[in-house]
Amino acid sequence: MFPLEVESVLFTAEEIDRTVGRLAGEIVARTAGAPILLLGILKGALMFTADLARALPADATVEIDFLVVSSYGSGSRSSGEVRLLKDAGERIEGKHVIIVEDIIDNGLTLAYLQGLLRSRKPASLQSCVLFDKPYNRAADVPIEYKGLLCPDAFVVGYGLDYKERFRNLPYLARLREEALCADIA
Ligand code: PRP
Repeated sequence: MFPLEVESVLFTAEEIDRTVGRLAGEIVARTAGAPILLLGILKGALMFTADLARALPADATVEIDFLVVSSYGSGSRSSGEVRLLKDAGERIEGKHVIIVEDIIDNGLTLAYLQGLLRSRKPASLQSCVLFDKPYNRAADVPIEYKGLLCPDAFVVGYGLDYKERFRNLPYLARLREEALCADIA
């Protein structure tokens, strides 16, 4: 049963689950057993951070923390201005930090975060992004772990919202144009 506003499912829960498992495997291979700090970027990366953490081996040394940023406000277009709404609680100096993002679009959010976090002198800083929308990139940012190539459409689900709705969908979906009309006009 889909919400009426959903036009189609782009990635099912099973496809997302497999991708999260693949990314966890890549993280293990690349970090070679070093302790890591997953830094989830809320609100969008809520589900992804939780699932990624559980996909890592149980004996891995993993810390989890969150930052809250926003650039989209309540609409469907990025404002281009990234705001730090809530900082992380843990110090990151000397740690192997992995930024966990649900989606990258123009890249300004990740560019801002990488700049901010690098200035705090982590032992290493990597980025893990589940959905990649490479069509409107305004900032060239390194991404060590990439999940799925996302179509150039407004997408919701698995943490991503439209006006704070649809984050709870277990899949990634495209919204009907009509649902976005008020914003596009
Ligand atoms: C979304 C998403 C990323 C960012 C990516 O966050 O979670 O953080 O936009 O966009 P960009 O690459 O164009 O900068 P949003 O500002 O919508 O906040 P939210 O995570 O609370 O939904």
